[in-house]
Amino acid sequence: MIEVKNLTKSYGPVLAVDNVSFRVEAGEIVGFLGPNGAGKSTTLRILTCYQPATKGSARVAGFDVFTQSMEVRRRIGYLPEGNPLYPEMRVREYLNFRGKLRGMDRPGRESAIKRVTDRCWLGDFVERPIGQLSKGMRQRVGLADALLHDPEVVVLDEPTIGLDPNQIRETRRLISELAKRHTIILSSHILPEVEAVCERMIIIAGGKIRASGSIGQIRDRIKGASRLIAEVRGPKQEVESAISGIGGVRRVEGKAVDGWNRLRIDGSEGKDVREEIAALCARRNWGLRELRLEVGSLEEFFTQITAEAATGA
Ligand SMILES: Nc1ncnc2c1ncn2[C@@H]1O[C@H](COP(=O)(O)OP(=O)(O)OP(=O)(O)O)[C@@H](O)[C@H]1O
Ligand SMILES: [Mg+2]
Repeated sequence: MIEVKNLTKSYGPVLAVDNVSFRVEAGEIVGFLGPNGAGKSTTLRILTCYQPATKGSARVAGFDVFTQSMEVRRRIGYLPEGNPLYPEMRVREYLNFRGKLRGMDRPGRESAIKRVTDRCWLGDFVERPIGQLSKGMRQRVGLADALLHDPEVVVLDEPTIGLDPNQIRETRRLISELAKRHTIILSSHILPEVEAVCERMIIIAGGKIRASGSIGQIRDRIKGASRLIAEVRGPKQEVESAISGIGGVRRVEGKAVDGWNRLRIDGSEGKDVREEIAALCARRNWGLRELRLEVGSLEEFFTQITAEAATGA
């Protein structure tokens, strides 16, 4: 449904998006996760035809965003960052105005407004001026606008930013509802958001994709990058070099505490060396009082990836 290939965008010397490629299949709900300045909004603006790319291509429902932008706009609904609205307009008036801009006729607009205000739980508020609505409610007006022409693809840039916990929960529930009928791509800089609503995530930092996959796949990847914590009694040098010699051990870092070596052992992905370490200690007659697999959290993984990006790794 969405196909992005080698997309690059620079603003003068700033490389905001650096050779990004990804696909989103019809019916998927994908989270675009990354810290501030990662290039999320820039990518989404290109996908929604609000900005041209410097290089690369993007297609939505088979149409090219540069050369067939009218076709793309017809099939995509976009909730931009900051969600600009007209505060003096009433909700119905605003949606009617937006429908006119999209070339919808009056009966089409009326039924569309009914549909989107029902779907976004705005029914009781259609006659209220937008300026009098809470932030959460305004966000729903933005969503209703994005859905007015019943697009196949919905693009949401930070849909819950600035909302209180209740509004966040409601907006997430609404997005999950929408996912039943639309292909959705949403951006966020917070992991729990993406975990809560998306099936798959693409982690972007420093303009580049750093990881992508289902939440489960990313968890497996973290498991592969887990480490062992061990406490072994024996001569420090000997203990460390013997453990380093075990196949699959990448690095051993130790410090002596009360005659015990407290070790942090990094392995290569997917190999569990606990049994070999226990056997080694038994053979050498070294005491072993702890041997524990420490699996990092998704949160740590995200922090690590974005820190690597910040240092230019
Ligand atoms: N119009 C612009 N002119 C110049 N530089 C820009 C412009 N828009 C974005 N940038 C730069 O491009 C980079 C990516 O910005 P972008 O807004 O895409 O990030 P983001 O991931 O959406 O961040 P945030 O989480 O803060 O919204 C940043 O370094 C930003 O300063
Ligand atoms: Mg942004």
